[in-house]
Amino acid sequence: MNGSGDTTGMAWDALRALETRSLSALFAADPGRVEAMTRRIGWPVMPDSAAEAGMVIDYSKTHLGRDALDAFEQLAEAAGFAAAREALFDGGIVNVTEGRAATHGALRGSGTPAQVEEADALLARMGMLVEAIHQGALGEIRHCIAIGIGGSALGPALAVDALARDLAMVDVHVVSNIDGLALEQAFDACDPETTLIAVASKTFTTIETMTNAASALKWLADNGVADPGGRVVALTASPEKAVEWGVDETRVLPFPESVGGRYSLFSSIGFPVALAIGMDEFRAMLAGAKAVDDHFRRTEGRANAPLLAAFVDQFYTRLKGCQTRAVFAYDERLALLPDYLQQLEMESNGKSVTTDGAPVDGPTAPVTWGGVGTDAQHAVFQLLHQGTHLIPVDFIASIAPGDVLDPAHHRTLLMNCLAQGAALMAGKPSDDPARAYQGDRPSTTILVDDCDAAAFGALIAFHEHRTFANAVLMGINPFDQFGVELGKAIAKQIDSGEGEFDPSTRALMAAAGLG
Ligand code: F6P
Repeated sequence: MNGSGDTTGMAWDALRALETRSLSALFAADPGRVEAMTRRIGWPVMPDSAAEAGMVIDYSKTHLGRDALDAFEQLAEAAGFAAAREALFDGGIVNVTEGRAATHGALRGSGTPAQVEEADALLARMGMLVEAIHQGALGEIRHCIAIGIGGSALGPALAVDALARDLAMVDVHVVSNIDGLALEQAFDACDPETTLIAVASKTFTTIETMTNAASALKWLADNGVADPGGRVVALTASPEKAVEWGVDETRVLPFPESVGGRYSLFSSIGFPVALAIGMDEFRAMLAGAKAVDDHFRRTEGRANAPLLAAFVDQFYTRLKGCQTRAVFAYDERLALLPDYLQQLEMESNGKSVTTDGAPVDGPTAPVTWGGVGTDAQHAVFQLLHQGTHLIPVDFIASIAPGDVLDPAHHRTLLMNCLAQGAALMAGKPSDDPARAYQGDRPSTTILVDDCDAAAFGALIAFHEHRTFANAVLMGINPFDQFGVELGKAIAKQIDSGEGEFDPSTRALMAAAGLG
């Protein structure tokens, strides 16, 4: 998936040689800049309807001029972007270190016919179970404790929080942490008589998930549920392990090994989401993601919205040395989006070697962080406006409100969102240095027409493809995560007491009673 090192090196050199103009200079030089730097991706409001909804992404407040866009397009070509993208959707081995394809696109219909057929069959199976549960096949189910961690929790937690606020058909609690307080909190909110346990784990070996799952079963048993095992659904790429663990085969919902954990929300890992919002809404989410897949697959160069986002990311990280990027959702429903994006971007692209195993020739993923607007304005925006760090910011908002209160709420929310981007760019001179705003600070604004299931799916797919495009431009593999293994292995050594520990860790083990 890597282009030739020489040509990518030359493309980076060309980018480094460019002069960076201020945002105001870029706008002054190009009256058509807003239009030239804005992308829209649309999808039908309803299946088969002519009316369209969509999302708009305005990149004009970033420091990319036409010369930088030309140079980034050359970099994309040198890095073999078109071939890598084709390989992604065509079942090619894009995860080279693990010798696997990455088939999350097939979950929403973007893949080879065989992959799409397999994904459709698995989705149909999940749909049958979801609908059977809604119809009472497992008795009255009012709550679901969804147990998983990382990619088996962050997506479902975000989606349930975003989409199930008004219409939760089942009240879902996602529990990830091994800290028993997390599970106890879910127990307190659920009635064991009417609670389903969904155990989500790609590998079905993750210690946090397996420990929490065992405790959840015990909780059901301790509270008089006659057949706790009958209340468990497993969501996994290792169905044989789930069966071995004791889950009845009819309640094991598999997904393909080639779907990575942090790319798995649209697989059976999304079962708790489907349980909460129903299969029609789940399918609407897939349709929104598919619209972005289609755009990403068929659009070239700077016209391609996720690729353009990656140009912006690379510009700030590699050429301007920005070590972080911030995401602020001006929408309560997307409050967990920064957490989700942290795993997607940092676990995918936080690497130090290229696909060939050579050291990378520049910084890779920045630290993704963020929060929810307007709250963050009153907490961290001081640093964005007047601090010494240059931090590219993404603002995300929905044009339609999610609430039914006085329209002043949503109007004020949107006003503030737009005002922050304008203020970061414009700045404000002052004779008093403490009151001066330097300005010329970059932001990208994403507006969805309405934060519904389709828009949500589109937002997720947009970020998946942006992450992939970034990886291609850097020549790295976004689909492995070997960096998480060492800590797990040492935890096991601490458990067994076998192993060589440094003096600090030995002392801490003694202090914590783990010696
Ligand atoms: O430790 C990291 C990781 O492997 C993530 O990549 C993954 O999403 C998470 O753990 C959970 O893994 P599993 O779904 O196999 O339980």
